[in-house]
Parts: sequence; structure tokens; C-alpha cells
Amino acid sequence: MSSFKDLRIVDNFYQTSAYYPMPTILISTLDDDGNTSLGAYSLCFPYYIAGKDHYAMLLECRNSSNTAQNLLKRGKCALNFLEDSYKDFKETVRLGFPGQTSKEKMKDCPFEFEKGLMEDGDRPLVIKKAYQVFECTWDDSLEEAYKDKEKIGQLDGVMGPYRNFNGITSKFGCHFILKIDKILMKEKYYNAIINGAKSSTFPKVPIDFGYRDSTYFWYTKFKKALKCPIPDVENDVKTVRYAADRADPDVKFTDDALKMLIKVPRVFLKTVINGCVKYAKDNNITLIDEKVMREINDKRKEEKKK
Ligand SMILES: Cc1cc2nc3c(=O)[nH]c(=O)nc-3n(C[C@H](O)[C@H](O)[C@H](O)COP(=O)(O)O)c2cc1C
Repeated sequence: MSSFKDLRIVDNFYQTSAYYPMPTILISTLDDDGNTSLGAYSLCFPYYIAGKDHYAMLLECRNSSNTAQNLLKRGKCALNFLEDSYKDFKETVRLGFPGQTSKEKMKDCPFEFEKGLMEDGDRPLVIKKAYQVFECTWDDSLEEAYKDKEKIGQLDGVMGPYRNFNGITSKFGCHFILKIDKILMKEKYYNAIINGAKSSTFPKVPIDFGYRDSTYFWYTKFKKALKCPIPDVENDVKTVRYAADRADPDVKFTDDALKMLIKVPRVFLKTVINGCVKYAKDNNITLIDEKVMREINDKRKEEKKK
């Protein structure tokens, strides 16, 4: 017998049929008068994370919202992430109440704004107290979603046909693939990313559990970031040697250099070794020793900083 009950899956299942941990993001867009407007969003996740020539987020939202309409019209937004504060969450819930125009909701908004770091024309402002902000541009080329601009202003439900994953995807729904133009980070957390994480340098990020029982939004406060070690699985030098010897006939590795790779998970070993070989070839090196490996590691750290 199963230890689980079979729960009915209904609309908005992530908050009506499940406990799904989500971020809380205030999305700034530009309204028709060029003013910054804020909407509250949780269904916003990384979409392209590697292997493309750009990075992207996916936003799921109501197509009649100010945010969706502004994105369909002008394509620019900023995703503002705030630290845990009940007062700010209350304000977020206010900004998440449907039906108000941008002007109405923004007139009482207590957040201070500043310009972002993108300098390519009109962009919404960003929230000054945010710990991080992603400045983004809607990629309206995917699925020819730019054609949905024809449907701007249809606020009582949009007729099909609908797109699958970018643009207007149902009568009331919309998906936006948002190319990340810049990630803005407050100095404290910037330093923690560059110099290495410590429990004390994590932003206090709240977790949203959504609107439940048609009454309240629920969220949990941040407690403490805990660290968990990765499994202590080491390749033996022989395994690393086997892969290294097959990477390139003109580039060799010393045993000491290979010892520095024994903790690399086996599935990534070939990629890492190929990266070292590329560095060697670019720098006319034929023998990779410990010193060269340190140079490669330093270069990686430098790239991370950039
Ligand atoms: C914490 C929170 C998270 C929300 N997440 C979403 C979401 O991911 N998608 C969505 O369509 N609406 C979401 N809402 C509801 C929107 O905020 C609501 O539709 C609001 O009217 C949008 O504002 P706007 O019209 O200015 O864009 C959320 C509301 C709150 C309070």
C-alpha cells in the first residue's frame, strides 16, 4: 500500500495541489507614460543556463496584467529580488493584487528606485534596496511571438491559436522568455560570489508558497544558509591519466598536474581535460605541470570576476 494519497490536479496546481517553493520577484516594466510599474511574480525561473550564446529566464503570467502588456509593447523589464521582510512582503502582496492600473498601484509604492546598469535606451528603474536585479529583454523572435503584438489590449481573454512557450499561450496566459542583459548585485553579495560563499554572506531570501485557500499568500522567512559537503569520491590518478593520454597527442600532463583533477566528477573529466589542452595549445605549452594547472585555475577565477 502506498504511503501517499492521490491528490486531484487542478488549475494553478503549484499552489492549489502542492507545496512548491518559489522566489518572490518584483518585476519592473515601463508603462505607456514611461513610468516604472511593479508587479509581483513567483513563476519566474532560469530557462537557458548554459550552452547558448545568451542566458534567459522564463516568466509565466496573466496576459492581461500590466507587466504582460508592457512586455508585449516594449519588451524590457527588470527582475528585482528583495530580502526577507514582512513589511516588504505585505507590499509585494499589495502590488500583486489584480485589477489596478500601474498609476493607481504605484502612487502609494514606498520603494525607492534608481537607474539600472543597461544604457541602451528606455528601461524601467530598479528597486534600490534589492539585493540583486536581472535586467532583461523579451526574446520575441522565439515562436514568432512578436506577432502577438497584434493582440495587445485584449484584456478580457485572448482568442487562439496560442503559442506553446513564448508569447500568448492560452486565453488568459502568457509566457515570456527573457534574455538576461545584466545581473546587478549589491557589493556584499558580489564579493561573496567572487571570493567564496560563507553562511553569513547569503542574502536573506524568503520562500513563497503562493496564494492558498483563496485567503492568504504564504511565505517562509529566511533562517540560515547551511553547507553540505559533496561526496568524497575521488578518481584515481590512473583513471585521470587514461583520459588525459587520449586528449591530444601533442600535449602531455605530469602526474602532479593530474592529481589536481582527481576530484573532478568523471562525467566532466573529458571536458575539463580538453579545456586544459586548449589552454596549453593557445600558449604553446606541450607539458602541463602543476604550475600550468595553477595558471589555468587563476584564469578561470579571473573570468569569473569579469
Ligand atoms: C507573491 C506573489 C507572487 C505572484 N506570482 C505570480 C505569477 O508568477 N504569475 C502571475 O501571473 N501572477 C502572479 N501573482 C499575481 C500578480 O502579481 C497579479 O496578477 C498582479 O495584478 C500583477 O501586477 P501587474 O498587473 O502590475 O503586472 C503573484 C502575486 C503575488 C503577491
